Amino acid sequence: MDIETLATKIRRRFHTTRADVEWMWSTQHERREGWVDLYQQSWSDPHRGVLLRCLEQLGPHESLLELGCNAGPNLIAISKGLSAVPARMHGIDLNAPAVEAARGYFERAGWRHISVERGLLPEAAAPIGDRSWDAVIAIAHLMHLAPGAFEQTLAHAQRIARRHLIIMDLHQFKQFQGARPVSLRRSPMERWRRDWWSCFRPHADWEIDIQEMPPDANLADIGDINALVVARRRRSRA
Ligand SMILES: C[S@@+](CC[C@H](N)C(=O)[O-])C[C@H]1O[C@@H](n2cnc3c(N)ncnc32)[C@H](O)[C@@H]1O
Repeated sequence: MDIETLATKIRRRFHTTRADVEWMWSTQHERREGWVDLYQQSWSDPHRGVLLRCLEQLGPHESLLELGCNAGPNLIAISKGLSAVPARMHGIDLNAPAVEAARGYFERAGWRHISVERGLLPEAAAPIGDRSWDAVIAIAHLMHLAPGAFEQTLAHAQRIARRHLIIMDLHQFKQFQGARPVSLRRSPMERWRRDWWSCFRPHADWEIDIQEMPPDANLADIGDINALVVARRRRSRA
């Protein structure tokens, strides 16, 4: 191993940069055989059922945007399982083979209501119009964004979502002092556990509900998801 490769490895382990995280996700399929297929096949996993129940309770959505959609398991679950499937759905993800696999699935299924694009967040969200999607979802995605990229992506999601923002993520359930999101992260493979109350506190136009994931759908044992965060846009008083 040359000295440059070694230096990169050490830096990635102890001081993760945004570029390291993006490198990790855009090349993840090279390190894990079958990674994309596994993601796609996970569309019927129990935590997707929690998402479907949440969407049913919130009422029909005309359009839905997913940030970090991978090979499309949530979009597939929604298309197969929701009583009123949104007429328009779109997914964005950084990983090219995952996006290709999602596109292939939707084409084979003849689902013209879904599109997907390869895009890097937060930049890929910048051209999307204000309140242009009824619901925005981010499932096990925001926990992977480095500081800076995270705040900008969340701000875009709040700007883009007309009615609801649904997030499944790691939440810091125990109280802590301080107003900033908590970072427990020190490697591209780890995740950030944030205090979602703090993340939303500056935005008075959102009403926030944070629930612990039910035991049968809690992926906390593999460090993935422990909370369902539902943000509803308050009606404007104007
Ligand atoms: C743990 S996976 C979750 C995938 C999917 N939401 C699900 O529920 O199975 C996180 C996804 O976020 C994507 N991702 C990570 N950072 C990203 C970024 N900056 N822009 C776009 N996608 C990103 C990864 O490629 C990956 O597909």
